Amino acid sequence: MEILNLLELEAAAQSKMTSMAFDYYVSGADDEITLRENREAFTRLALHYRVLTGLTDRKLETTLFGQKISMPVIAAPTAFQRLAHEKGELATAVATQKAGTIMTLSTIASTSLEEVRASSPDLDLWFQVYMYKDQGLTLELLRRAEAVGVKALALTVDTPFLGRRERDIRNRFSLPDNIVLGNLMRGLNTLPTSAGSGLSAYVKEMFKLNLAFTDLEWLRNHTNLPILVKGICHPQDAIQSLEHGANGIWVSNHGGRQLDTSPATINVLPRVADAVAGAAPIILDGGVRRGTDVVKALALGANAVAIGRPILWSLAIDGEAGVTNTLELLRAEIDAALGLCGYSDLQVPRDLVG
Ligand code: GLV
Repeated sequence: MEILNLLELEAAAQSKMTSMAFDYYVSGADDEITLRENREAFTRLALHYRVLTGLTDRKLETTLFGQKISMPVIAAPTAFQRLAHEKGELATAVATQKAGTIMTLSTIASTSLEEVRASSPDLDLWFQVYMYKDQGLTLELLRRAEAVGVKALALTVDTPFLGRRERDIRNRFSLPDNIVLGNLMRGLNTLPTSAGSGLSAYVKEMFKLNLAFTDLEWLRNHTNLPILVKGICHPQDAIQSLEHGANGIWVSNHGGRQLDTSPATINVLPRVADAVAGAAPIILDGGVRRGTDVVKALALGANAVAIGRPILWSLAIDGEAGVTNTLELLRAEIDAALGLCGYSDLQVPRDLVG
């Protein structure tokens, strides 16, 4: 089937993956209310367009921490991309580089930092950080990220343990033998076989579960890279993150996979943006599927959005070409949305959305 928009990806991807992998990606926590709400909240917002502007050409480029990107869309970190396609993260890397944007590699990617860098030398690469209980291990990951030229870190802070994803519990989610956590050494690079979700057991066993602002300070003191704090929904947490050394705020509820009934990210964005007051760039993820969603996020205070599941579905459908198709579809939609709203660049006012 010809894919014409990002909402068509999920159904097309389902038949291309094992049901365990599809369930892992598609799941939200508990009743999946936040998962649905992330998407639906966008659909309830209207765009109050302007006319007779005399504008024609549009400029989608923007800059994040001095890095120029061709559009305000980056690849969110998602785990184990080789569950979707044999080339996994390597395919995402090539497609995001071709699209002129940033890829955020997960700590628990199925491909290592070094492999991604070797196959995509010019990629603008960010690294998502899960802190391990073993600080030495976290530090080692950090040094490796720096050594391969990662340009920013995204510290995930919404996962004191894994949200309860019932499909993964039922499926006893685990990794096939040929897929490992590529950034980790033997012994730490597989999921335990568990009575429930193997990932949930791994997180409990390995990750630092009592993260505090002092951990953000620790990270700040061990790197000069820009740090984004990912998983922010409360304005006060945004303010405190900046006070404790963050350089960017990533508004996210982990794709509805952590606390169910937490608010839709687009609904909390204006409050977070007011709190940040232009002091740092803001990324938003959660339910972004249309160019109009991106324009709404920009109007409400984001500098760029990140997409997660659409990239996984695209990988499953057609690997690198699938991800390229998705990024180009979204680019064309953003261009059209801006044009029909009556704007020629990303500086859209808040009252565009109502
Ligand atoms: C990993 O971060 C997940 O949400 O499954």
